[in-house]
Amino acid sequence: MGSYATSPPVRRSLHGLLVALFVVALGVVGALAAPPSAHAAESTLGPAAKQSGRYFGVAIAANRLNDSTYASIANREFNSVTAENEMKIDALQPQRGQFNFAAGDRVYNWAVQNGKQVRGHTLAWHSQQPGWMQNLNGSALRQAMVDHINGVMNHYRGKIVEWDVVNEAFADGNSGARRDSNLQRSGNDWIEVAFRAARAADPSAKLCYNDYNVENWNAAKTQAMYSMVRDFKQRGVPIDCVGFQAHFNDGNPYNSNFRTTLQSFAALGVDVSVTELDIQGASPTTYANVVNDCLAVTRCLGITVWGVRDTDSWRAHHTPLLFNGDGSKKPAYNSVLNALNGGSTTPPPTTPTGGQLRGVGSGRCVDVPNAATADGTQVQLYDCHTNANQQWSLTSSGELRVYGDKCLDAAGTAVGARVQIYSCWGGDNQKWRVNSNGSIVGVQSGLCLDAGGSGNGAAIQLYTCWNGSNQQWTLT
Ligand code: G3I
Repeated sequence: MGSYATSPPVRRSLHGLLVALFVVALGVVGALAAPPSAHAAESTLGPAAKQSGRYFGVAIAANRLNDSTYASIANREFNSVTAENEMKIDALQPQRGQFNFAAGDRVYNWAVQNGKQVRGHTLAWHSQQPGWMQNLNGSALRQAMVDHINGVMNHYRGKIVEWDVVNEAFADGNSGARRDSNLQRSGNDWIEVAFRAARAADPSAKLCYNDYNVENWNAAKTQAMYSMVRDFKQRGVPIDCVGFQAHFNDGNPYNSNFRTTLQSFAALGVDVSVTELDIQGASPTTYANVVNDCLAVTRCLGITVWGVRDTDSWRAHHTPLLFNGDGSKKPAYNSVLNALNGGSTTPPPTTPTGGQLRGVGSGRCVDVPNAATADGTQVQLYDCHTNANQQWSLTSSGELRVYGDKCLDAAGTAVGARVQIYSCWGGDNQKWRVNSNGSIVGVQSGLCLDAGGSGNGAAIQLYTCWNGSNQQWTLT
């Protein structure tokens, strides 16, 4: 039975038309303005993370700060900065005993002048050593390492929130061994010597160990790092935090046990941070998972993505970041923002559940107009009833089905894309995350299921998630 009532033809007076335009204008303003409640969603990443006391940071390359698109996105979205290369050993001490803080300070000053905190990266590392250091070994190298830590930390004393004191000291693969390097050959205690020197040089900085491919709890490298941190804590070696670089790709895929890893390290009595996040292909789901993993762990301080736009990435061909080369937001951006705003995902049910999809703001239900069955029919709001064209079942794969074989389907990934019914085919544009805050987020787009009005016939579309009541739904 049809549920769509067409409006009777109305002869509008000029006055009526002006009133209608005013109401529409108010509606548009209302839809774009942030909601006024104490739990208002934030519209950029740093403030959204700050709601839970965390930061959302970015790696900045000094030579890109002249690019106005780059600088304006970085300034708008992030509240923490890591220098991508400018605070590494070769950059800061190109000649022995001659420090050059020009590029490091450029990144530092840009950050603090724009109200952002700074992560320091990195003091002792086998890579990006200046030539003179590469040629050192044994006690001479040990002394050079300590001198470098003193020189750099003295310059930035009291200014750096977290320092990556030691970077990437464990070997790849399954050995669980330390990586061979001139630093490692200077004696197995080089890491703790670095941490003790760092604590003495700047007692105000949190001192981190930072590594990659250590996100999977079952990896030998993760377990080796865990043993080291546990040992340091037991022996009083001054370590405050562990950085998980989180470069996720085909060779190091995201695993849901990352949360176990973060929790396990936190339980040792250290803070944890996601320090260099990028994800090959930038799956919105994986980005949301990483954010939710950090939010689930009290001692997770924050997340840093390793670059602004895909074209700024050290792995540009993986298109792993939150912004396209032209500066536009990718679906993963919306997904991250939504997760930071508290849209934690309720796992899809193992057995299908369903019923009416009722809009919290309107009190009206998602309805297939006229009980149509044609692919491409845009859904609408309508007074709730119990007929089949308002019965939606959530499947274990995240589909919202009507009539058994038609799916709620996003006809695009952009803000304003129509939401329609279409024959189910398993695509990500037909999968939805039904969140505990009432939002329903498209898996492909990262955008929210949104009612374009509150009356009968209001169109259902995708829209940037903002926690508005026109984006909150109950499935009853
Ligand atoms: O600036 C020079 C340029 O003048 C020259 O023409 C060009 C020729 O190759 O090189 C440029 O320097 C490059 C530099 O990035 C700046 O773009 C270096 O070759 C290149 O090696 C360097 O790569 C950096 C890499 O660390 C070095 O190890 C990446 O930008 C940086 O993103 C990456 O960051 C690391 C983290 O520090 C630690 N974790 C892994 C992460 C990714 O590799």
